Amino acid sequence: METKLLGGCAEDIAKAAELIKNGYVVGIPTETVYGLGADALNEQAVRAVFAAKDRPADNPLIVHIADFSDAEKYASYIPELARKLAEKFCPGPLTMIFPKKDIIPSVTSGGLDTVGIRVPSHEVMHRIIVESGCPIAAPSANLSGLPSPTCAEHVMDDMQGRIAAVLDGGSSEFGVESTVICFENEDTVRILRPGAVTREMLLEICGEVNIDPAVLKELENGETAASPGMKYIHYSPKANVVVVEGNTENFREFISRNNGENVYSLIYGSEEMDSDCKYMAYGETAEEQAHLLFQRLRELDEAEAKTVYVRPPSKEGIGLAVYNRLIRAAGFEVIRV
Ligand code: TXA
Ligand code: MG
Repeated sequence: METKLLGGCAEDIAKAAELIKNGYVVGIPTETVYGLGADALNEQAVRAVFAAKDRPADNPLIVHIADFSDAEKYASYIPELARKLAEKFCPGPLTMIFPKKDIIPSVTSGGLDTVGIRVPSHEVMHRIIVESGCPIAAPSANLSGLPSPTCAEHVMDDMQGRIAAVLDGGSSEFGVESTVICFENEDTVRILRPGAVTREMLLEICGEVNIDPAVLKELENGETAASPGMKYIHYSPKANVVVVEGNTENFREFISRNNGENVYSLIYGSEEMDSDCKYMAYGETAEEQAHLLFQRLRELDEAEAKTVYVRPPSKEGIGLAVYNRLIRAAGFEVIRV
């Protein structure tokens, strides 16, 4: 199948919405990363999403809706705390897990009896949901295991020939996927995947915010992931990524000792590196790093990097999300210098 590239004009938005309504899969922009969108209630369309990505069938899809008031249609119970969070963070990069109603097919929920619901803030995505009239199931639009796409070109690179169309809505604002939370009790949530709605922001509304162990470490044999996506190796470029913790001086010294052909480092930007060391920069602030991380991982593959040593971000704010993606890209290989 030829994959059409659509623009963000009204006519193309209508085309994308029409395709989704008719059971096709379309690459669509959101404020976090690009998604592979299909009608969440159409089992066959959802199966096509799993097939296009080569995604394991037990990894559930997030259901995207235009307005939080629609959540009632798909969730059988919505705690009061969720309503408060929705007032503050919807639309935006927050996914909340609820027990699902039967209307959500089991393929969409990866066989779980829960459903993740998100109200994206990207204007084009919002219009596609409204015009298609469907709740849209959308995982990130990368091939399973590769870094999530933050522009239409990345989606084309992974999905050319596999889906009906990609709609170009510009570069994704945040660059990391949404924060995924579930509810533990009346005033406590648990972060299953960190994102741009940070722990600090959630604490303004929730009494307690727990961080699932799978966010910061590899699951041990026999442990089950509350969020199935966290058990898979993810965001992994072809290069061998290694996270190197330590101060600038020790990092530079480490790189000089371990330099070689096709060895790159991914640094903040302000550090000076030895002139014979190849490097890319991904920004100073956690926000910049979130915005650039996946793009840089793809560029490092294009540059045919074999080994990439990365200066990790701080774990505060959105930095926790960057760190979470990075240690997965590194297959949990973290060294201290
Ligand atoms: O920002 C985002 O969330 C992007 C854009 C396209 O909206 N979507 C996205 O989808 O990142 P995906 O499928 O790549 O990641 C969804 C994550 C997975 O780790 C999945 O296991 C988890 O959310 N998830 C989805 N539904 C869940 C559920 N019912 N219970 C637990 N985890 C769930
Ligand atoms: Mg994904």
